[in-house]
Amino acid sequence: MIAGTNTIYIDGQEIPFTPGQTVMDAALAASVYIPHLCHYPGLPPSGNCRLCMVETGGRNVAACIAQAAAGQEIRNNTPELNAARMAITQMLFVEGNHICPSCEKTGNCKLQAMAYHLGMLDQHFSQFYQHRDIDASHPDIALDRSRCILCDLCVRASRDIDRKNVFAIAGRGIDAHLIVNSASGKLADTPIAATDLAATICPVGAILIKEQGYRVPIGQRIYDRRTICETGLQEHIAQQRRDQ
Ligand code: SF4
Ligand code: FES
Repeated sequence: MIAGTNTIYIDGQEIPFTPGQTVMDAALAASVYIPHLCHYPGLPPSGNCRLCMVETGGRNVAACIAQAAAGQEIRNNTPELNAARMAITQMLFVEGNHICPSCEKTGNCKLQAMAYHLGMLDQHFSQFYQHRDIDASHPDIALDRSRCILCDLCVRASRDIDRKNVFAIAGRGIDAHLIVNSASGKLADTPIAATDLAATICPVGAILIKEQGYRVPIGQRIYDRRTICETGLQEHIAQQRRDQ
C-alpha cells in the first residue's frame, strides 16, 4: 500500500482522516467499529479500558488515544486482538458484581453487550466478590460501586460537559474506586441532577436513575435491538450532528 496523504489502513481498508484525529475517530467516521468501553464521542479519551487496542508497526496501541498518521497500517479485527479483548472483558466481569439477570441495566449495558459481541461464554477467572459502598442518598440517582468498571466516563462527563466535577477515581490498581466530591462523600450533597450527562452515561449499572426501573421491558432494550457495533457507530454520528 502507498502511504497516501491523510489515509490510514485498518485491516486493509482505506480510511481517510483529518489531522489531529485519533485512529478511533477516523475509524468510526468511516463506519469501522473498534471495540471500546471508555471512549465516548465528544469527551476527551482516558485510555483506561484497553478494549480498543489495535496493532500497528509491531506494537499494540489504544486506538482512542493514538493519532492517525498517513500511511499507517492497523490491525483491528484479528483473532489475537479479540482474544485479548475477551480476557479484559472477562476480568471486568469478575472484578465487579455483574449479575446480569438481576441488574436493571441488563439489555442496556455495554459490558454485557461487549461480552456478547466477543462471544464470551464464561467468566474464566475466579470471581472477586467485591464489597463496595452503595450510595442511595440522592433522591433521583443511585450509585452501586460494585458494578463500576472505572471507565472514568462519569468523571469526564461531569467535569467537561456538566461542569460540576462530581466524581473522581481515587486509589490505584486493585484499590482504585469511584469517589464523590462532597464533604460527606455522598451524592445527595453534590449538585448532580438526573438530567446531567454524568448521571446517564454509565455504560454499566453502577449509576442508575431511580424510579425508572424496568420501564422499558427486557427484550425491547438498546442491545436487544442493536449490536454494540451499531450503537457505537450511531453515538459517533449523533456527536457529529451536535458539532455541526
Ligand atoms: Fe464508569 Fe459508571 Fe464507574 Fe462512572 S460509575 S467510572 S461511568 S462504570
Ligand atoms: Fe480506548 Fe477504552 S476505548 S482505552
